[in-house]
Amino acid sequence: MNFMEMYEGKIVLVTGGAGAVGSNLTRALAQLGAQVIVLDDLSSAERWNVPSLPGVLFVEGDILDEVKLKRVFNEKPHIVFHLAAFFANQNSVDHPERDLMVNGMGTLRLLEYSALSGVDRFIYTSSGCSIYGSSAPLPLREEFMSLNLSSPYQITKMLGELYCNFFHNHYELKVVKPRLFNSYGPGEVPGQYRNVIPNFIYWSLKGLPLPITGTGEETRDFTYVGDIVDGFLRAGTMESAIGKEFNLASEVETSIIDLATMINEATENKAGVIFTRRRKWDTKTRLLASVERARELIGYNPSTPFADGLEHTIRWFHDNWELIEPSARFGPGISSAVREVTTVSK
Ligand SMILES: NC(=O)c1ccc[n+]([C@@H]2O[C@H](COP(=O)([O-])OP(=O)(O)OC[C@H]3O[C@@H](n4cnc5c(N)ncnc54)[C@H](O)[C@@H]3O)[C@@H](O)[C@H]2O)c1
Repeated sequence: MNFMEMYEGKIVLVTGGAGAVGSNLTRALAQLGAQVIVLDDLSSAERWNVPSLPGVLFVEGDILDEVKLKRVFNEKPHIVFHLAAFFANQNSVDHPERDLMVNGMGTLRLLEYSALSGVDRFIYTSSGCSIYGSSAPLPLREEFMSLNLSSPYQITKMLGELYCNFFHNHYELKVVKPRLFNSYGPGEVPGQYRNVIPNFIYWSLKGLPLPITGTGEETRDFTYVGDIVDGFLRAGTMESAIGKEFNLASEVETSIIDLATMINEATENKAGVIFTRRRKWDTKTRLLASVERARELIGYNPSTPFADGLEHTIRWFHDNWELIEPSARFGPGISSAVREVTTVSK
């Protein structure tokens, strides 16, 4: 049976299913005939982003709330995709205790409930930027791990992997640990703590200069969310994935200055770019991963060219601008990056 057909009739819990990756995963699962329970407290997501499809049950709540956990595990999920997280680096620097509670304790609770209720599979969402530190050789491979991490988020995302290993070894819970790299695509609402791509598109559509925190020569391995979802769907059913960690990336390096130029051109934004100070936790000048292990284990094959993925994302912004614009959450002075830009340009 094809791995996609295996979701038909399955009950699947997606924590963080209103978020950037989770909303896309929820849609794909529902379209494959799964009954999807989304548990999300909407702390960094919008209700409108949860796909309204038959088979999707939305439960608003915190993964730390035992009542909500009992509610969703009462549905007896076969598979748990745990994506809810306190996102991401800068947010965790600003709020380290909440980061530990959600990413540490929250993940532990999900693992406990999953083990107790005997789920068939638990898929954790690990993070490439959290595991490898900033001095690993490129392309990043799974064997290399660093204890020199540069934000509380990186520490707690690694902690989640370590808890997964414990539950796998001690309780034989069938865990899988995909390590995501710079996901982007439709479904990610811009905001103070969000990633560079949605924020650049948002600012460019508003005719603002794109703030580059560094020299612009920094690179990232941007991975289209559709390719990430494909990796997740494989991770959720294939036997070969059990107990394993593997990168889900695109194996393509793109510099931030090239990204900014592409977005400004595609949106006809004439405001250009503006350079601002590098954030202290942002210690990675280059990010490029190898997906050899995922290719071998689960047949993962990221296939979306960056230009196409960017085009889909910009189209999503145009199509949903009336929802996106009021939902974009930026703190006082828009964001830490733009705050500095504002100061610099005065
Ligand atoms: N986006 C990336 O590039 C990337 C890279 C590496 C790892 N990841 C991981 O992938 C997962 C999904 O990332 P994303 O980009 O979709 O982020 P996201 O912030 O869009 O999604 C996380 C979701 O979790 C929800 N949430 C947060 N705290 C919660 C809580 N206490 N209880 C219930 N729900 C809660 C948020 O409202 C949000 O909908 C996260 O675990 C993240 O750490 C993402």
